[in-house]
Amino acid sequence: MCGIVGAVQKNTKAMPVLLSGLRALEYRGYDSAGVAVIENGKIECVKSVGKVAELEKKLKKRELNGAVGIAHTRWATHGVPSEANAHPHLSHNNEVAVVHNGIIENHEKLRTRLESEGYKFVSDTDTEVIAHLVHHYLNLSKQKDLFEAVEKAVHELKGAYAIAVISGSAPDRIVAARFGSPLVVGFGNEKMFVASDVSALIDETNQFTYLEDGDVAEIFADSCVIRNASGKRVDRPMITSEISAADMSLHGFQHYMQKEMYDQPQAIKSTIEQAMKKGEIDVRAFGAKALSVFRKISSIQIIACGTSYHAGLAARYWIEPLADLPCNVDVASEYRYREPRFRKGTLYVFISQSGETADTLACLNMVKRESPNSHTLAICNVPESSLTRGTDLAFLTRAGKEIGVASTKAFTTQLVAFLLLTVVLGRIRRTLPKEIDKKIMKGLLTLPEKVEEALELDSTLHRLAPKFTEKEHCLFLGRGIEYPIALEGALKLKEISYIHAEGYQAGELKHGPLALVDENMPVIAVAPNDALAGKLQSNLKEVRARNGKLFIFASPETKIVKDEGTEVILIPEVDELLAPIVAVVPLQLFAYHVAVQRGKDVDKPRNLAKSVTVE
Ligand code: G6P
Repeated sequence: MCGIVGAVQKNTKAMPVLLSGLRALEYRGYDSAGVAVIENGKIECVKSVGKVAELEKKLKKRELNGAVGIAHTRWATHGVPSEANAHPHLSHNNEVAVVHNGIIENHEKLRTRLESEGYKFVSDTDTEVIAHLVHHYLNLSKQKDLFEAVEKAVHELKGAYAIAVISGSAPDRIVAARFGSPLVVGFGNEKMFVASDVSALIDETNQFTYLEDGDVAEIFADSCVIRNASGKRVDRPMITSEISAADMSLHGFQHYMQKEMYDQPQAIKSTIEQAMKKGEIDVRAFGAKALSVFRKISSIQIIACGTSYHAGLAARYWIEPLADLPCNVDVASEYRYREPRFRKGTLYVFISQSGETADTLACLNMVKRESPNSHTLAICNVPESSLTRGTDLAFLTRAGKEIGVASTKAFTTQLVAFLLLTVVLGRIRRTLPKEIDKKIMKGLLTLPEKVEEALELDSTLHRLAPKFTEKEHCLFLGRGIEYPIALEGALKLKEISYIHAEGYQAGELKHGPLALVDENMPVIAVAPNDALAGKLQSNLKEVRARNGKLFIFASPETKIVKDEGTEVILIPEVDELLAPIVAVVPLQLFAYHVAVQRGKDVDKPRNLAKSVTVE
């Protein structure tokens, strides 16, 4: 949700770094963009509506040469995407410029106060209050101390923010601050940077320091001073990022989503391998104290958003029977407000690709606050994220950088993580039957190959896609663990092709959605050969009896027969316990081809963003 990048250099132009940073951060939002630099002691600003490419076009006509600058790519929250609402926001006489990621909850109150003091607002955003507040405090301070002005301004803010501020009165620095939204300081050679995440700066440095909530940092070209919420100078650890420029490259694919689907065999392999020691799952892959925690727990509560939530839903079908633990799964935005009861012995599992999703983090903070003795586990794809830094235990999926907004390889590796967790828990609790344990372990060994085989359906799904390009609606059905896979298939299709798609439990068909079925409403069923395949087939007959067109993703074993209204897409045969990890791949490919053939921007679907750091 909004990407921030800033650079403090000496005698070299900041613009190339700012623009390449913005391009890397576009996954966070892409409805408008802007930059501001300090030139001859004055702030110069250029903004534009649309993607970063539009801003670049403008900058070709108006060159900005400053060595210190900030930039932003926006995902609109307050106010429509427009030039006036794009960041940076400027204060009176362009004395201060601010870029912001997050939501200022008390902005209306602050706005009224600042207006009464004579400040003129030109945008509908919540961010503009920060520019005026900093300006206000800067002009109260005799030395025009920007650090102090930002500290005072952020003390007045309620909500979430990551900000970077520049001022003509302090032309050699950026002051940055965070609370609730991520911000990282990058260390270069006689150059320093700030950004929403490390991917914006990988061409410049691999040395980073994450700011903590409440921190304010004063960043010069060769140094950085950080003060915490109580104004005390602090040292934050320096980390070396593993992300490389290669992770950000398309490697010849047309889209990141396409590349990331093809990354899955390797991503799954790496996720399994890093959890193994001498051919066995190492419980410490979940954290140094995992064994003692897992011995104590008596239930599991999974919390997540979006695709990660679907991984959690699927996990319940493994965890409850095989680890014999009651397992609840909640969407984070609901869980945080539904006044849940906290039970002793519960392991709270937070799943997130990014580890920065605002609602998921809010739930973690709530659990830590309301139930301080609870155990918390993160399943996450980003090692240094706020989530992994906040939980007692963490399992890292090794999907590698995921850029496409529609999550693919993060999802399949999350499923792998949950299957490994199930085995570990089942063994510790002695609830996992030996033969099932063996089956899973054997299945995990060949899983990357099976996913590879599933990817071979690419051309079949490319050919199938035209049957959907003109459709407006579509139903996805599944039973048991394939129900979350149906939900995920529907989510993939709707988010990138804009076809209205719903995932349903097949058994619920006759309790409502069947009323929608006619020759114009295609029904997609996920039917690998599991114990419920027979029951699913009866549900499918209900569809055919209403002239509904069926598209069944089934393994050869199901022996489902084609007829003129039933298309069967054969997916690789795999043990039913591992089937969901394989079955979702053709659904991803299918959504991808439909979206591409409908002419949509699959990597940057409208109105969405990869990392949802606001509530
Ligand atoms: C956004 C993304 C989804 C993602 C969800 C949760 O909606 O577009 O792809 O599944 O956020 O994100 P997380 O990083 O917590 O998994």
